Amino acid sequence: MIYDVIVVGGGIAGLMAAIEAKKDNNKVAVLTKGNIFKTNSGMASGGINAVLNSNDKDEIEKHIEDTLKGARGLGNKKAISYMCNRASSIIEKMIDYGVEFDRNSDGNISQRSFGGGSSKRTCYVGDKTGFAIMQILIKKAKSVGVAFLANNFVMNLTQINNNVSGVVAIRRFDSSVVVYPAKSVILSGGGYAGIYRGYSTNSQDYNGDVHAIALRAGLNLKDMEFVQFHPTGFVKTSYLVSEAARGEGGYLVNSQGERFVDELDTRDIVARAIGKEIKEGREVFIDLRHLSLEHIEKKLPSLLKAASIQAGIDVTSELLPIKPVAHYTMGGIEADMTKTKIKGLFVCGECASNGVHGANRLGGNSLLEGAVFGELAGMEASIFAKRRSFLPIDYNIVVKDQSIVDNIFDLDTTKNFNAIRITLGKTMFDHVGITREEEGLRKTFDYLKYLRREAATLHCMDKGRQNNVELIAILELKNALEVSETVVLGALKREESRGAHIRKDFLETNEKYSRSILINELKKGYFKVWFDDENSLVKALRKVFINNIK
Ligand code: FUM
Repeated sequence: MIYDVIVVGGGIAGLMAAIEAKKDNNKVAVLTKGNIFKTNSGMASGGINAVLNSNDKDEIEKHIEDTLKGARGLGNKKAISYMCNRASSIIEKMIDYGVEFDRNSDGNISQRSFGGGSSKRTCYVGDKTGFAIMQILIKKAKSVGVAFLANNFVMNLTQINNNVSGVVAIRRFDSSVVVYPAKSVILSGGGYAGIYRGYSTNSQDYNGDVHAIALRAGLNLKDMEFVQFHPTGFVKTSYLVSEAARGEGGYLVNSQGERFVDELDTRDIVARAIGKEIKEGREVFIDLRHLSLEHIEKKLPSLLKAASIQAGIDVTSELLPIKPVAHYTMGGIEADMTKTKIKGLFVCGECASNGVHGANRLGGNSLLEGAVFGELAGMEASIFAKRRSFLPIDYNIVVKDQSIVDNIFDLDTTKNFNAIRITLGKTMFDHVGITREEEGLRKTFDYLKYLRREAATLHCMDKGRQNNVELIAILELKNALEVSETVVLGALKREESRGAHIRKDFLETNEKYSRSILINELKKGYFKVWFDDENSLVKALRKVFINNIK
């Protein structure tokens, strides 16, 4: 089967894109490397922001202003305005598809406070909003005829004369390298916070595969240094304590019983305040003891259960120890809304950097951004596919990818990919975490180079080709190392503190750095890093447009 539109990634952005692209009677497939039911979108618990009355221009303006303020000078107003104005229609669309948001006694959708919001605008389904939305979107996508090609690990894109022509993937079933030709491709493969293994709310799947694919395709990555640390994860397991816990009235207290920060400030500020408490030797807890059991059971049922199972804590009567954990990545593949420099290639969701979140994302804006820009990417990819035919596949890439796979199977190794992965997570958390400084960043960069050399000599111990988890883990690790280098390079280049990026050696925000940082991989392991003074992608796309209409 051949597909007009291929979507890489099955989170909220990918599914919205696929459903939209299918409307024009295109053949559409969603490729996922693993289980569609285990995406980060499904784990986003607390809610999705929206001003529900589309005529309330003042409230929409406040949503735009809050988002811009949260972005700490790096927000893109065009993208933010588009998202905030589209929010009510997106919620209506989800309701139409079958999402049942919690409602108050008047029958209106309930909305809760989230950090950095000047109004209550976070719609929710208890504390499992993402999960509830994902169930419905999967059902909807299946009902309209979107094909789900699970267990396909995408390695690279094929392109010809700067036009995308398909994707190259490993079919995990038998480890064969296959090509999926496509007229247009949408990358929506999530973020890279899973690189911080052991210190992240993300599953380890989210290690920046699509970012590495984009680098290899010649695209720029943007603002990779901005990694959001969610203030509240379980100390032992890094499980997310949703911001809903604070939105519903929970406190943050230290081991001296003091509240030390406005719980509903933005995540960058709250995470830093908690980091400081911990560094000074005090433990930090979320305190829900003053909330009624009925309220907790109704609004925070997942937390109640997870705290009991994972931490042995009854949150109705005990304090729950927490720590900040890597949760979301604002950096990503450079995009103008959803467009990239490669014709027919669109990006959306967490992997894309279109300037909606800038240096710091507001809670509740990620599901919204994924849904809004997923919808837009689907519409654009569909229009694009309608206008063009399939293009030739560059088989050099396929042959190269096949030889990478064969090489991993062929030789033997004594090295353990898992140990390298764990070391990578700890090193990134220690030196490229909530705070960074030049010395630690430089040492980490050198260490990453060493790990990259080590990873080049990893081979499968198990030589069986069916569902070989080692093969995928080795390829994921290589991607993670490639992407980690870009995070460190961005963090070194940005000699200031802004949003989620705090340099101990440059504590102030410096206006001269109110610009994005772009990174390109000139050849394997050699990067170019520069400030995007020119807004170069927008200019390049304008030039393509002018040339097209001449
Ligand atoms: O805290 C949370 O529920 C996470 C929400 C988000 O990242 O938007």
